[in-house]
Amino acid sequence: MKRLLILLLAAVGAAQAAPTNGALFDPIASVVQSPRCVNCHQAEAPRQKDQGVLHAQQVVRGRDGHGAPALQCAACHQAANTAQGQVPGAPNWHLAPLSMRWQGLDKKGVCQQMRDPARNGNRRSGDQVIEHMKTDPLVLWAWNPGAKRTTPPLSHDEFIKALQQWARAGMPCPD
Ligand code: HEC
Ligand code: HEC
Repeated sequence: MKRLLILLLAAVGAAQAAPTNGALFDPIASVVQSPRCVNCHQAEAPRQKDQGVLHAQQVVRGRDGHGAPALQCAACHQAANTAQGQVPGAPNWHLAPLSMRWQGLDKKGVCQQMRDPARNGNRRSGDQVIEHMKTDPLVLWAWNPGAKRTTPPLSHDEFIKALQQWARAGMPCPD
């Protein structure tokens, strides 16, 4: 009887601890699901503006995320913002691979994608998963998007701290 009670108490404790842990992803989701990131993590075509409207000029993914042969991303997007920031730019500008699309995913779905080596570019450890977001120029561009575009809700520093906390806890996902 006493053992049963202890087991029950342990089960209640675990059920209460789980949601708090998954909440570690909330600040990360607020950045990752912001328009500057999501507009590139799409299926068939990139999107524009804070409303995520389909990219003008009928731009599409193409075979490798760089657009149709006759209309490549690089025809307009340079290694840095151009035209007073009107045309966004960073080195090797292109759509994220299909396995990394976030279009239509909720925060739980994005979290599961990010930690899944089969879909995240074979990044296995927490350190590997967050390294890209520390240094990749396409990620950093979101904090310097040009033309008064809005930036993600956290600073890049705050974002990295939240990622480190999440990685240390074993990359828990929301329920
Ligand atoms: C014909 C020129 C042109 C081509 C080709 C082009 N873009 Fe763009 N793109 C633009 C311009 C101009 C903007 C800025 C639109 C605005 O904010 O008013 C833009 C904006 C974007 C944005 C929105 C950034 C944001 O969050 O505000 C993304 C994402 C994007 N392009 C991705 C791509 C990708 C990926 C390709 C290739 C598959 C591509 N573009 C091809 C001209 C182009
Ligand atoms: C211009 C398009 C573009 C923008 C803007 C962009 N990404 Fe990406 N993202 C990519 C591409 C392309 C890859 C694949 C690169 C690779 O695997 O090395 C990628 C891969 C990733 C990955 C690694 C794989 C994964 O899904 O776990 C993460 C994480 C990521 N991006 C996060 C972000 C975040 C966070 C932002 C905004 C702060 C952002 N990206 C903005 C194009 C973009």
